[in-house]
Amino acid sequence: MPDVVFVAPYFLPTTARFIDAVGRTPGVRLGLISHDPREKLGPDVSNRLTSHLRVDNTLDTAHLVGAVAAIGRQMGGIDRLMGPLEELQVPLAVVREQLGIAGIDVETARNFRDKDRMKSVMARNGLPCARHRLVGTADEVRRFISEVGLPVVAKPPAGSGTRNTFRLNDPQQVEDWLAWSSPARDQPTLLEEFVIGEEHAFDCVFVKGRPVWWNITRYYPTPLQVMENPWIQWAVILPLDISGPEYEDIRQAGPRAIATLGLETGLVHMEWFRRPDGSIAISEAAVRPPGAQFSTLISYAHDFDLYAAWARLMTYEEFDPPERKFAVGAAYLRGQGQGRVVGITGLERAQAGAAGTVVEVQLPKEGQTPSGHYEGEGFVIVRHPETSRVEEAIAAIVSNVKVELG
Ligand SMILES: Nc1ncnc2c1ncn2[C@@H]1O[C@H](COP(=O)(O)OP(=O)(O)O)[C@@H](O)[C@H]1O
Ligand SMILES: [Mg+2]
Repeated sequence: MPDVVFVAPYFLPTTARFIDAVGRTPGVRLGLISHDPREKLGPDVSNRLTSHLRVDNTLDTAHLVGAVAAIGRQMGGIDRLMGPLEELQVPLAVVREQLGIAGIDVETARNFRDKDRMKSVMARNGLPCARHRLVGTADEVRRFISEVGLPVVAKPPAGSGTRNTFRLNDPQQVEDWLAWSSPARDQPTLLEEFVIGEEHAFDCVFVKGRPVWWNITRYYPTPLQVMENPWIQWAVILPLDISGPEYEDIRQAGPRAIATLGLETGLVHMEWFRRPDGSIAISEAAVRPPGAQFSTLISYAHDFDLYAAWARLMTYEEFDPPERKFAVGAAYLRGQGQGRVVGITGLERAQAGAAGTVVEVQLPKEGQTPSGHYEGEGFVIVRHPETSRVEEAIAAIVSNVKVELG
């Protein structure tokens, strides 16, 4: 009977699904540490908890060590410590190391969390990625740009969700950016050469040092382009067939990068580009389940439950590779204009174009505040055994549905 401790600051819908999945994993006794009160979970999930501890700050490592030790005393020991949140991966690894709990270690967690370290490790091992440098002064910014040329991308070394990530196109933009948010020694910025190409995800499960399963998702267009253009509604497609020669290079480089970063067992969400000349560049890798509904999309593509599979992987180091049965797509509905959601048009035409493919819909609600994010205000998920039908359905949704703000 493994004793598992799950850490989650807030019970967002996806997080609650992961907590539920761990609670349902056969044999597991589950302890939960959170900021949110236990009552915010439904009774189904709450009844499955052996222990719960409410804390003020899960991201503060010293605080978290004390909390995990305390819940461990209540439970009589801890076999596994987990949580899907990106920002928790290093704190969780530090706690594991301090309390002698098995699982991803600190060095590996840092390799996946810190993009400067990640890219340095990858480049040293001959893996394709953008040239990069951590910069702490305006001089260092100008020097890097004089070496690689413009445009460059500036981002936080440990960011997520494209937050505070910008493309700098010309010298004036560089100077403006330096005037407003110059990097500092104690708050460095990561600069990267700008990679032109089509962006994809490569999700991969490792068990005891070996890749056992993987997924490819195509992004339309890149998250950065979606953030730069408020009129774009983001879409992604998981093609049915990912076994062809067009993905041979990432099938080789992806797992090699993951092994190089030090992972033994876990699920990795990697992003990569296909350049116009056909070459690839690995962009980043996170050692956690993917966000933006991707865990649901992957589940639909295989008619299985990735949430449950992740829970079992992280508890027992077991994973049965599922068969891919469907192509899947998601269209992210995004409010146009300023203000709050006042209406949605074009649903009928979208429904006609996507007939027979829609499996899940979350429409923006009237009065909803825009997320300001590439995930927009709602989504539609479609699936079909033919990739081309999914492409058509997604095109029909994205081109017809208009979410009005006012
Ligand atoms: N070097 C780069 N060249 C081109 N686009 C980039 C580059 N780095 C990041 N981007 C764009 O910015 C987005 C966010 O950057 P990423 O490194 O993935 O950080 P995050 O952790 O915020 O997702 C990417 O999805 C991609 O669209
Ligand atoms: Mg990313």
